[in-house]
Amino acid sequence: MPQTILITGGAGFIGRAVARALVARGDRVRVLDSLIEQVHGSRARPEGLPDAVELRRGDIRDGRAVAEAVAGVDAVIHLAAEVGVGQSMYDVDRYVAVNDHGTAVLFQALIERPVRRVVVASSMSVYGEGLYRGADGRVREEVLRQPRSGPDAPWDPLDEEGRPLVPVPTPEWKRPALASVYALTKYAQERLTLMLAPAYGMEGVALRLWNAYGPGQALSNPYTGVLAIFASRLHNGSAPVIFEDGHQRRDFVQVDDVAQAFLLALDRPKAAGQVYNIGSGEDRSVREVAALLGEAMGRPDLTPEIAGKARAGDIRHCIPDISKARDELGYRPARDFADGLRELAAWVAEQEEARDRVEEARRELDRRGLVA
Ligand SMILES: NC(=O)c1ccc[n+]([C@@H]2O[C@H](COP(=O)([O-])OP(=O)(O)OC[C@H]3O[C@@H](n4cnc5c(N)ncnc54)[C@H](O)[C@@H]3O)[C@@H](O)[C@H]2O)c1
Repeated sequence: MPQTILITGGAGFIGRAVARALVARGDRVRVLDSLIEQVHGSRARPEGLPDAVELRRGDIRDGRAVAEAVAGVDAVIHLAAEVGVGQSMYDVDRYVAVNDHGTAVLFQALIERPVRRVVVASSMSVYGEGLYRGADGRVREEVLRQPRSGPDAPWDPLDEEGRPLVPVPTPEWKRPALASVYALTKYAQERLTLMLAPAYGMEGVALRLWNAYGPGQALSNPYTGVLAIFASRLHNGSAPVIFEDGHQRRDFVQVDDVAQAFLLALDRPKAAGQVYNIGSGEDRSVREVAALLGEAMGRPDLTPEIAGKARAGDIRHCIPDISKARDELGYRPARDFADGLRELAAWVAEQEEARDRVEEARRELDRRGLVA
């Protein structure tokens, strides 16, 4: 039976991929999105949003717009958010307002008109540092980043005896360690969903997403995912700037795989009340990824600049254990990373507009002492 699904923030990068997948299988899709300038520029309707999607321009904090948007829908995918870790450390008011007050307004409307299920986009950032293993083989859950003692001090966290800790895949049971305002707001979104949905006869599911990439990323948003930022720099003939030493490890997941995860989270009965890590299952260093993207974009000559500085709120390593999503949702990330980069590079090459705001963003962080 086709369903009607509301996607908040559905005009964004992930939202459009989810909308395409839902429309392709015959569901009706409504999007509520305020089309913020940092992501959409002055476009009234983003490319890649299927014509069949009903787009309503409205703010997630506007109770009336949200109440109208939830009327007649079977389920909600909640993506509307401000998404920059670095920016969240100084635009605190806006991040907390959009992400947390926005989620509260959504649930206020859903209390009046409950739906079957609400799936919320949470984030890897809620973990803070991922899980580590020490030289003694013991797994450490509570690794905190200490300020570096000097320019030659190691970037990696150390154990009590000064030996490096090695990152290992982080499962959902690891306790959150919120290191940025963004992470705090994503955790609140997740908890509000898992607490309020069952209280009103709905089902809540949270997907903790790793770094999504693919065609359609907001190239001009300097606070978005690292691959979009690197792509925008390379497209404009500048070298990517890598914070720290570039050996920090992450998991990059193609956006169609993320969309697949949202559809499974919407459908699978077992998912009710659960949290799932969503990544590709393959981790890489940021330095490696920058070099591969440079090659894919035909600019291997633009050697990445290593900033040697860390941004406040950034974590060193976090890589996912995705076995719970594999076992319970049947999630199977299918996209090969090299193919995914080639596809991203081909899309970027067609873009005329990719304003490089990276220097601007770096100055903002520097001015506030948020890079050291
Ligand atoms: N992209 C990633 O790697 C990633 C990783 C972890 C979590 N997430 C989460 O996934 C979701 C989607 O991220 P994305 O990468 O598509 O980001 P995006 O910025 O492309 O999309 C977010 C959308 O929300 C909209 N929005 C912002 N403020 C709004 C408001 N006040 N009212 C209504 N709409 C508003 C924006 O216009 C945009 O279209 C977000 O919740 C984000 O926190 C993304």
